[in-house]
Formats: sequence, C-alpha cells, structure tokens
Amino acid sequence: MKECIFSKLVGSQIMRIRPYRPGRPLEEVKREFGLKKVIKLASNENPLGPSAKAIQAIRDCVSQIYFYPDGSGRELKEALAQKLSLDSQNIILGNGSDEIVSMIAQVFLRRGDNAIMATPSFLMYEIDANLSQARIMSVPLKDFKIDLERMIRAVTPKTRVVFIANPNNPTGTIVKGEEVDRFVSRLPENVLVVFDEAYYEYVEAEDFPQTLDLARNHPNIIVLRTFSKIYGLAGLRIGYGVAGKEIIDILNRVRSPFNVNFLAQVAAIASLTDQEQVRRSRQLIREEKKFLYSHLRKLELFFVPTEANFILIEVGKKTKEVEYRLLEKGIIVRGMRAYDLPQFIRVSIGTREQNKEFIGELQAILSS
Ligand SMILES: Cc1ncc(COP(=O)(O)O)c(C=O)c1O
Repeated sequence: MKECIFSKLVGSQIMRIRPYRPGRPLEEVKREFGLKKVIKLASNENPLGPSAKAIQAIRDCVSQIYFYPDGSGRELKEALAQKLSLDSQNIILGNGSDEIVSMIAQVFLRRGDNAIMATPSFLMYEIDANLSQARIMSVPLKDFKIDLERMIRAVTPKTRVVFIANPNNPTGTIVKGEEVDRFVSRLPENVLVVFDEAYYEYVEAEDFPQTLDLARNHPNIIVLRTFSKIYGLAGLRIGYGVAGKEIIDILNRVRSPFNVNFLAQVAAIASLTDQEQVRRSRQLIREEKKFLYSHLRKLELFFVPTEANFILIEVGKKTKEVEYRLLEKGIIVRGMRAYDLPQFIRVSIGTREQNKEFIGELQAILSS
C-alpha cells in the first residue's frame, strides 16, 4: 500500500500536531502491571467522586436513554443561569469544556490569524489552533505564572484569540484580578479572550479575577468552566461557557445538535443542588495540599504552590524512571515531557491515604 498520500494531503500543520495524550486509564495499568489496586493521580479528577445526588439522578433516568437529549440543554442552562445570576442566553454547554475550546478555534481562527497562549499551558489550545491553521504565539511563563504583560505585547492586528487557563494547567498558578483588569482594558475589542477556569472552585486566593462580571461588560470575553473537576463528572463529559449573547449565538452555529448527552445533563443539574459535595471536595484539597507540601519539603523537592487540585513537582533527571517505578507500584502520575518540562511530574491531589502512598513510594524511589 502506498503511504504518505493522506499525510501530504492534510498538510504539515495537521501532521505537526502531537496527539493529546491523556493520563493512563486505571484498567490498562492494572492489566499491564498485574496489579489489583491502582491510584490514578494523573488527570486531576475528584478523588471523592461525584455527588450522591448525581448518581441517584442517573439511576432514576437511565431507562430514558433511548430519547435524544434536550439539544438546547434548557433545564441545565436555567439552573446555571440562576446560580451565576445571569441569563441562560449567556451560556453554552459543551461535551466537556474542551469541546468549547474547539468551537472557539473553529469559528474565530482562520489560516494566518494569530492565537496567543502561554507555554506550557493546557495542550488543547495549541491542537485546536493548529487545526484552524492559525499561527501560534507562545508566551513563556514567568516564574511558572502566565505573563499577561508579555501576552498583551504579543497582540498584533492578526490576533484573534487569547487563551488563558486560570489556574493554569500544569502549574496550578493564577493571574490575579487587577492584572486581568489591566490586561482586558488594553486588549483590542476584536480579540476574544478565553478565561479557562476548569479549576476555579479550588482557588483559595482572594484576589482571583471576577471574570463573570468582566464578561458582562466586555463582549470579547468568554469564561469556561467544567463539571469534570470538582463536580466529579469527568467521565460524562460536560462543561460550559459564559459570554455575551453575540459570542454564544456564534458558537451555537457550529455546535452539534446533541453535543451534551442526556445523563450528563441530568447529573449536572443534580450536582448543582449539592453544594455540600463541592464544599467537602474543596476542603479535602486544601488540607491535602498542606500535607503534600510538608512532605515534599522534607524530601527537599521543588514544587510550585498550587491553586488547583494538582501539584507540579520537580524530580530531576530521573523523571521517566520515577514515573515508571510509581506505575509499577500502581500509582499513575503525569510526566511533563509533552509540556516541555521534562524534569517535572504533575500529581493530582488525592485522599490522605492516596497521598501517603504516593509520598511513601516517591521517597523509596528517590532514596534507592
Ligand atoms: C485548563 C483545562 N481546561 C479544560 C480542561 C478540560 O476539561 P473538560 O473535561 O471539561 O473538557 C482541562 C482538563 O484537564 C484543563 O486542565
């Protein structure tokens, strides 16, 4: 069979894309290493799982799955609108917030346009911008933080979209309210800024930007949030975006008709009624963050203080070996080579038991 025909046809922009590599699934690691128990600390999921109300709502509705879902997600959008004090016409639902990132790239980026993003940051921005044949302007982090000053200086007449993960993945750092206010006031009105707040609910800092308020007054802002992280619904794939009506209307033109499945909608609606689950999850991460910090300090490892539910840790030249030996012990963490941080691992914060196991194994590996 002749090869390379289609690679040539799709062109170098597509062929340059490095496919997104998610954290390894539990079952795969169990099979490969012959393990009974595996702890997954690789994809920033909620170790406490979803709300019991979400599980019950799914059980109650599961026999209805032969119907198509509500393509407009009306009930969920109304629940979100009420919770966030806005109009449901300001909301778009996505099959995960990453689907909304794709929609944004699809409609706002054309060949030759510029998309600005931090590096390293959430990898989907680059993949989606490449798909749209846009030019990527990567702005390096400064002290592990997104450098808004350099980002604003990177804006040209060709810039169409700026992606800002806040907290940033994989560093867990934030940009603050006043920095964001300054940034937005200097951004041309025809540049869309995406504040991706997947880890918003975990943030402890008091000066975190009030982006929903900003979006009310700036039609060029979209805020993305998700049910995958603190709400513990990652496997169902559901996230949402909040923006002015014009942006939402544009995005709805490329949204596929039933992009958010029925059970995801049902579970998300039920989850919103259980803010106790959110509080408990936030509390766990706050306590466990301190536990991990203190042990990482004892191990004399550099780490980046986090506002999210994961920690970026420098383990040095042996990163690949550390990652592999943790895997052998049934602990999945994320090596950061794809993020050009080859000496680091990113570890999701787990329960006390999981964190203890992680620290114990890490210590054993590093001292062997
Ligand atoms: C910064 C950031 N944005 C978006 C996502 C995607 O979330 P979702 O599961 O809603 O697609 C992630 C997931 O890891 C993330 O880290």
